[in-house]
Amino acid sequence: MRILITGGAGFLGSHLSEKYVNEGHKIFVVDNLLNGNLNNIRTLLHRKNFKFIHDDVRNPELYRKLPTDLDAIIHLAAQIHVDKSIVNPEETFDINVGGTMKILEFARMHDIGKILFASTSEIYGSAKYVPMNEEHPLAAEHPYGVSKIAADRLCYTYNETYNLGVDIVRCFNFFGPRQKDSGYGGVIAIFINRVLQNKPPIIYGDGKQTRDYMYIADVLEAYDKTLKSPNNPGKYGINFGSGIEFSVNEIAELVLKYAGSDSRLKPIHVDPRPTEVQRLFADISKAKNTLNFQPSVKFERGIELLVNWYKNYKSELWLY
Ligand SMILES: NC(=O)c1ccc[n+]([C@@H]2O[C@H](COP(=O)([O-])OP(=O)(O)OC[C@H]3O[C@@H](n4cnc5c(N)ncnc54)[C@H](O)[C@@H]3O)[C@@H](O)[C@H]2O)c1
Repeated sequence: MRILITGGAGFLGSHLSEKYVNEGHKIFVVDNLLNGNLNNIRTLLHRKNFKFIHDDVRNPELYRKLPTDLDAIIHLAAQIHVDKSIVNPEETFDINVGGTMKILEFARMHDIGKILFASTSEIYGSAKYVPMNEEHPLAAEHPYGVSKIAADRLCYTYNETYNLGVDIVRCFNFFGPRQKDSGYGGVIAIFINRVLQNKPPIIYGDGKQTRDYMYIADVLEAYDKTLKSPNNPGKYGINFGSGIEFSVNEIAELVLKYAGSDSRLKPIHVDPRPTEVQRLFADISKAKNTLNFQPSVKFERGIELLVNWYKNYKSELWLY
């Protein structure tokens, strides 16, 4: 297959690129390196079936350069950070909605039959009921979540109006190697990074807020099953998660268990963040029934794997 992956130098995108390059597909990555990093795809740059295009999905010129005989597009490029979206909502909407619009138009113009769009559980806002299925109200409050609602619904209208074949992939939170662990990063990566430096995890609010976490290997499986499905299983949105919830307090405890070397280290609680989602817990029946999706890495094992990666490989990645 010839696949365009936008945001392919980021956390998820670099893993998907690696998987598909190794499977022998021809992969084109577009990334403006806003949050991604060439180190993430360093081992792919010399591969014959991989091409990196340093560009912005909002740039109209890009669409004159891209190959048009693509079998699929995996559209991941986005401004993903909630805090940053609160500081600069315009940029977030510009990238997440405007960029998605451009990709959809490109796909429509060139009859590209399979598009995966990275929506997110953040569109649901805090759980109004659990577990949260695809019919859960779209009640995000922060600009990141609302920009993703807009993009998710744009995909829906391209499916309904133009029969485009977009799969709207709604992953709950995920974690694994290469996720950013500085300021604007994932909570698990930030906690591990701090604890390995003997600094306490910082928890916003009482830490009772919960999340449903998948390890990156299961996210790859989710995208792969969707990509290779001959149908359009995510036409109306499809959830992927673990179906199990953990509180931020429990996450901090597990990170301290696997990464901590000083038993006196304890989490610090600071003021809650405005508009933070309080509860996310996925109903993944649709993914199970339509794609036979079954997450395989238990949460605690995922934490252990990630701590091992930090101890053994992370520094290597950043040497170059
Ligand atoms: N990480 C999670 O827990 C999670 C959960 C659900 C959905 N998602 C979605 O999955 C996708 C990938 O997330 P991630 O965690 O890998 O994030 P990431 O920030 O690592 O990846 C996004 C990539 O997009 C690139 N990018 C940003 N703006 C761009 C632009 N205008 N043009 C080209 N490239 C641009 C960034 O440089 C980055 O490499 C995102 O769309 C995100 O919303 C993530």
